[in-house]
Amino acid sequence: MAAGKGTRMKSSLPKVLHRLAGRALLRHVVDTAAALQARKVVVITGHGATEVEASLSELTGISGTFTLEFVRQMPQLGTGHAVQQALPALPDDGTVVVLSGDVPLTQVDTLQALIQASGGTKLALLTLAFANPSGYGRIVREGDAVKAIVEQKDATPAQRQIKEIYSGIMALPAAMLKQWLARLDNKNAQGEYYLTDIVKFAVADGVEVVGYQIADEVQVAGVNSPVQLAELERAYQRRLALQLMEQGVRLADPARFDVRGTLACAQDVSIDVNCIFEGSVSLGEGVKIGANCFIANATIAAGAVIHPFTHIDGEKDGVLVGAGALIGPFARLRPGAHLGEGVHIGNFVEVKNSTLAKGAKANHLAYLGDATVGERVNYGAGAITANYDGAFKHKTVIEADVHIGSNSVLVAPLTIGAGGTVAAGSIITKDTAPAALSVARGRQASIANWKRPSKSK
Ligand code: UD1
Ligand code: CA
Repeated sequence: MAAGKGTRMKSSLPKVLHRLAGRALLRHVVDTAAALQARKVVVITGHGATEVEASLSELTGISGTFTLEFVRQMPQLGTGHAVQQALPALPDDGTVVVLSGDVPLTQVDTLQALIQASGGTKLALLTLAFANPSGYGRIVREGDAVKAIVEQKDATPAQRQIKEIYSGIMALPAAMLKQWLARLDNKNAQGEYYLTDIVKFAVADGVEVVGYQIADEVQVAGVNSPVQLAELERAYQRRLALQLMEQGVRLADPARFDVRGTLACAQDVSIDVNCIFEGSVSLGEGVKIGANCFIANATIAAGAVIHPFTHIDGEKDGVLVGAGALIGPFARLRPGAHLGEGVHIGNFVEVKNSTLAKGAKANHLAYLGDATVGERVNYGAGAITANYDGAFKHKTVIEADVHIGSNSVLVAPLTIGAGGTVAAGSIITKDTAPAALSVARGRQASIANWKRPSKSK
């Protein structure tokens, strides 16, 4: 169900498209359904339907093991009415699991247990006991048997004392759902078609209703406001941080750690505070990440050290950092930066779409774009590849063992021959021969004993 408005987010973005750990809330739910190996995922849209549907467009049709289908609910007349719209899309022989697009952190094993509790013959409700159950539908039991769900607004004072609430998640045979939904009415305090009314029909038909109770609130917590979104974000990050620490990763502070995608860590990885990982990041054995780094779509090989305040974003092309490389502090690696073993990239050095071979160094204040840099090259402070002529990008090749002097400009296309030296402050526009010293700047002139102008005579 993803048709609701989400008024309390106070946002023009449909609620289910707000992001948690870098993924839309709805995407979390669809991914969970995929992990459950659902045959079919039916997304019920309403408010912002076009935008919501577009956000999942890359999954439409057959994707992996399931088919994704959208149905629209216009207008929104309640949760029962919402699920009614989906019925034509649901095969009779299946089990239906009803999920909410704004409840992102339900775990797959919980849903598997709920499906098992339904067992193809029963109605299974996911429930929790809350100290403050206000606002939720209450589970009315007689003995152990569940007799009804009563919404807050329809509940008697005695029913409002009930602590066990309905999470909004249920599993049941599709054929039963279809029969019961046909019998819904909207004669209640809110004038809505309540999905929860099917419990009464199940009881009337002699079908067992199972209340499957869990203790973990995070799994059923919905996002209604920016505050709740931020709280769930922390809950998610904490869950992930604990998993990584259980695998041996040393996090300086699990509360100051964010993964918005997937982070794979080999043994003996350590991560200082305030680091953000996005997309797909993999850290090799013994990698150390300093404080305040942003790292996205990158592979960092064993033993590399990323010093504080480094920004790495591989976007689509990725970034590779070789074994034992030293990066930062304050370095910037952009898409297509492929750094070999033992490469050093120091402060305020930007590398884009460039390959640096083993042992190459660019330690201070420099730019390398569209370059191929050989082994052991020393790229001086302030050196720049002028790779863009205003229309096209051009390549710079710096062969092995070259020294590029400080503040040089290498105007591409250009090749600096192996073992060559470029004098500081040179503007190099033509290829240079191996082992040559290339100087391209005004010759120094010094005037002996020169007197500065002075006011006194
Ligand atoms: C619902 C349950 C309540 C439960 C609570 C758990 C009903 C009648 N009540 O109440 O027992 O304790 O969830 O959070 O089901 N939606 C639509 N179309 C609609 C109405 C809602 O798609 O016409 C979607 C919403 O976008 C949301 C979900 O259904 O994702 C739940 O709707 P919401 O209005 O939040 O239900 P509650 O009143 O909280
Ligand atoms: Ca709700």
